[in-house]
Amino acid sequence: MNTNRLSANVEKALSDQMNKEIHASHIFLSYGIWADDKGYQGIANFLYRHAQEERNHSIKFMEYILNRGGKPKVGVIPAPPADPKTLTDCFKGVFKHEVDNTTAIYKIVDLSMAEKDWATWNFMQWFVQEQIEEETLAHNLIDKLKIAGGDRATDESLFTLDKTLQEAPNDVPLAQEATGNNP
Ligand SMILES: [Fe+2]
Ligand SMILES: [Fe+2]
Repeated sequence: MNTNRLSANVEKALSDQMNKEIHASHIFLSYGIWADDKGYQGIANFLYRHAQEERNHSIKFMEYILNRGGKPKVGVIPAPPADPKTLTDCFKGVFKHEVDNTTAIYKIVDLSMAEKDWATWNFMQWFVQEQIEEETLAHNLIDKLKIAGGDRATDESLFTLDKTLQEAPNDVPLAQEATGNNP
């Protein structure tokens, strides 16, 4: 009796995404190492925490596939891209990788809808929501750096930015989560 509740296509797409989340984790880890090496420990810390979050996403895919009777496959993880040249470069890179990841998430939503796999469709909605948060977080980083003066920011404003990110939460409040009692 076949107990795998995922189609071969959906199983492969989810498994690929499990690997993609690890790739994202490695990208942020490498950016964190770059920032740490440059002396931006707060920014590095922020990126390390973000790398950990991406790893958690990967595990979420792994568990879902297993729970549905499938078997995820750990594949080859490509090397992260070259180090950023500047902080602007770094934050734009974070944003770009989040948008790329959103595109990949949407493809799985499309596939689950086409196959009427409503369990997977429902599972994927968590990631749709999560990507809104992560994209907002990434463009907030770009905005904060812009306010600090971008690539011409003074050491003092970069010091403050670095300190702010040391303690910054890794998620942002979203408008769609607001309620009358909790605006
Ligand atoms: Fe992710
Ligand atoms: Fe992400």
